[in-house]
Amino acid sequence: MRVVILEDAAAVSNRAADIFCHTLRKRPDCVLGLATGGTPLKTYQELARRYQNGEVSFSDATSFNLDEYVGLPAGHPQSYRQFMHEHLFSCTDFDASRCHLPDGSGNDLKGASEQYESAILAAGGIDLQLLGIGSDGHIAFNEPGSSLASRTRVKALTQQTRQDNARFFQSIDEVPRLSITVGIGTILDAKHILLLATGEKKASAVRAFVEGPVTSMLPASALQMHRHVTVLVDEAAAAWLSRADYYRQVEEVQSELEGS
Ligand code: GLP
Repeated sequence: MRVVILEDAAAVSNRAADIFCHTLRKRPDCVLGLATGGTPLKTYQELARRYQNGEVSFSDATSFNLDEYVGLPAGHPQSYRQFMHEHLFSCTDFDASRCHLPDGSGNDLKGASEQYESAILAAGGIDLQLLGIGSDGHIAFNEPGSSLASRTRVKALTQQTRQDNARFFQSIDEVPRLSITVGIGTILDAKHILLLATGEKKASAVRAFVEGPVTSMLPASALQMHRHVTVLVDEAAAAWLSRADYYRQVEEVQSELEGS
């Protein structure tokens, strides 16, 4: 796991955008795994800015989002489909027909989950998977206790996650109780995983998943089992890391190697 400690959230977003652009330049028809939440917002803004400056194009890319609420009608302002449309798809040249999100609005959620897994496979798998992290260590909507081998399925949200996400709704009662989410196994199949964490509220989860034991009680800890993970954190989210000095030292050496 490569842990990169950056000054602030803006630096995290810029570095994340660099990694996206590098992936897209290497393979314009790459498959991107996308995330929602407050954390990736600035990265999407930066990508939109670079697109508008002619620095990057998404026209040949395919995308799969991590998750979606169950039961919100299409077009609901807090649905993740709407979020992606507003913050990334409509501001860039993504081809809407290749932008996928799980469908949490139908009656056959099991069928929709299976179809989602098949669609990812048919696209050739995910090249770059973007992730945020919940304050309890969840990734996508894989709450603590999720199987580390899980695939796309319906998952109930914890009270903690509903409370954390209530800021986007009028009240906590409006936050759905269920989601449809890719599994931890699905995430681990991605070729490169990029996790972003910013702010002091994430410091405890960051320390636990980077330096603690691998356990389903902290879903992000499963990333320790993956061969290519980049973790971008700001100083506030890195505050509880006990080996921060070592990660900084590794980065210095790494930058020298990459510069040479
Ligand atoms: C939700 C999403 C996760 C996201 C998490 C943290 O639960 N399903 O994918 O990582 O929120 O969100 P934020 O970035 O707003 O802290």
